[in-house]
Amino acid sequence: MLDTAPDPTAERLRLHQLLTGDARALFAADVRRGLSTQPKQLFPKYFYDELGSLLFDAICLLPEYYLTRAEHEILTRHAGEIIAAVGSAQLALLELGSGSATKTRHLIEAICKRQPQLLYRPIDISAAALETSARVLLQSYPSLRIEAYASDYDTALARLRAEAEHERVTEAESNLSNAATRNHTLALFLGSNIGNFDRAEAETFLRRLRAVLRTNDALLLGADLKKDPARLVAAYDDALGVTAAFNLNLLTRLNREFAADFKPRAFRHVALYNEVHGRIELYLESRRAQVVHLPALDLEIAFAAGERMHTENSYKYDLIELDELAARTDFARTQTWTDTARRFSSNLLIAV
Ligand code: AVI
Repeated sequence: MLDTAPDPTAERLRLHQLLTGDARALFAADVRRGLSTQPKQLFPKYFYDELGSLLFDAICLLPEYYLTRAEHEILTRHAGEIIAAVGSAQLALLELGSGSATKTRHLIEAICKRQPQLLYRPIDISAAALETSARVLLQSYPSLRIEAYASDYDTALARLRAEAEHERVTEAESNLSNAATRNHTLALFLGSNIGNFDRAEAETFLRRLRAVLRTNDALLLGADLKKDPARLVAAYDDALGVTAAFNLNLLTRLNREFAADFKPRAFRHVALYNEVHGRIELYLESRRAQVVHLPALDLEIAFAAGERMHTENSYKYDLIELDELAARTDFARTQTWTDTARRFSSNLLIAV
């Protein structure tokens, strides 16, 4: 017999699908431009097809890739302190790039201990990841309500900004200044995702996020710290070759989606630390001179022997750079927690 019992968590979940149908057209345009410019480049957001997402999960378990474990350690140990430091009676959570929301649980748990209800608004490109993680969270926390957004960051932030504007106008019209009593928002941008933006993009992103927040709202920003380059390179060039597979999988994806004939074995994964820019750079290096065809895009691309195609930057920060970034985007860093080995930082930024 089919189990037809209604899902008791369903009424506490709303999923807003903001993704439009033109994702493939954008991917095609990015690939065309990226392969036709010099030096060639592909954007890291395209790593995450089904296999790429699984490979990233595997990266997070690698001994060399300390970032996820370090942030997990911080949130396990300090979630209560972090929530107390935001200093609001009632909090709502907003998370950009929530994924499986594993680390977020610690913060949700800490908030649920302090207040009777919690609204959590996760934003993620994957509707499937949002649904799966939401169901698990709603089952664990009966006082939780979730408004999830399947979206890229820009679209979701534009939507939230419009909603925030509308709220402000309504408040002003009804003379309801509830500044003292209203919920504060704690936004989360975890996992060193900020590192995949260049310095200017990071600033633009934080400005857009700041525009949906009000004064005294907060942002918990996860940032990987600058350190010995050998440690950094090892984290992006592990002995098992999982990060190499993650990088090379981009080519497999192009083969599948654009009928291309990349031979992944004809390329080599390269990870290096650029001291001047304070970033890890990932490349796919052509092992020999070769021509690749992408018939679905009507493209034929020549690679020279040793030519490098750029696939990702991962910027590393120090606390001074984080202070400067915060100041330029109308935030102030008030507190930072690190793991015991001081490799990773969780930074509390208050909207000023
Ligand atoms: C998702 N992002 C924070 C990872 C990073 O460390 O930059 C992506 C990654 N690329 C290779 N390994 C991990």
